[in-house]
Amino acid sequence: MIELINLRKRFNGKPVLDQASLTIRDGETMVIIGRSGEGKTVLLRHIIGLIRPDAGQVLVDGQDLAALDKKQLAELRLKFGMLFQGAALFDSLTVEENVAFALLEHARMTPAQIDARVAECLRMVGLAGSQKMKPAELSGGMRKRVGLARAIAMKPKTVLYDEPTTGIDPVMADVINDLIVKLSEQLGVTGIAVTHDMVSAYKIADRIAMLHEGKIIEVGTPDQIRNSSNPLVRNFVEGRADEALLRKGGHPG
Ligand SMILES: Nc1ncnc2c1ncn2[C@@H]1O[C@H](COP(=O)(O)OP(=O)(O)OP(=O)(O)O)[C@@H](O)[C@H]1O
Ligand SMILES: [Mg+2]
Repeated sequence: MIELINLRKRFNGKPVLDQASLTIRDGETMVIIGRSGEGKTVLLRHIIGLIRPDAGQVLVDGQDLAALDKKQLAELRLKFGMLFQGAALFDSLTVEENVAFALLEHARMTPAQIDARVAECLRMVGLAGSQKMKPAELSGGMRKRVGLARAIAMKPKTVLYDEPTTGIDPVMADVINDLIVKLSEQLGVTGIAVTHDMVSAYKIADRIAMLHEGKIIEVGTPDQIRNSSNPLVRNFVEGRADEALLRKGGHPG
């Protein structure tokens, strides 16, 4: 279980998270929605200690991340896979070297076993045979899928997905959605996904949480979120501009 308790985070004096709280149960897929710039990526990065909160706690299986030293934090991160929003591939490495990166360092596997695992992960994301390509030769959507293959290579217990389907065509997006559902249903992976793709959110989520002005303002099943009585949630999921917000000079995201 992952518990985010009253997280506060400011950047340059500007509050991004303001008492954000959320509990993610083992085995569920939690989707975090919210407009651009609301702090979804910042929230995700707190979960693996890439960002430390100004106040509040992150508990992973009851363990407070703030109490861990660097080595313990590095060990804990091995239980997580992370798909970064921009894929964050190593540009000088091939696709297979990118996907194998953690396996080479941390897994006790023979080269043949690593090759097989890399091939399996690439097949799962629809990129069979792309081992020798370099990131510069890939489209944005392909890079993202390599990032996903890398995130799942170590068979992590929990996978964090930052915008897994953004910039990917609808057919391939559905391949990604199916993969996330399969990891959850067949392997019991806990998933935490950030997205503003509501088609994807409804498909993969057990529960959906909405981040707004630094707080999680609602958590519910896809049906509960779809039928929310909160106008902020409804406007977001129905893709309508928020009039009050436009008057304030914001953007609908
Ligand atoms: N390392 C940082 N230093 C300073 N400001 C930051 C940093 N990381 C994020 N921010 C700020 O925090 C706010 C939230 O950023 P974040 O990337 O979490 O948004 P988001 O909800 O993921 O948006 P998007 O949907 O566009 O990805 C933004 O105003 C951003 O400029
Ligand atoms: Mg983001």
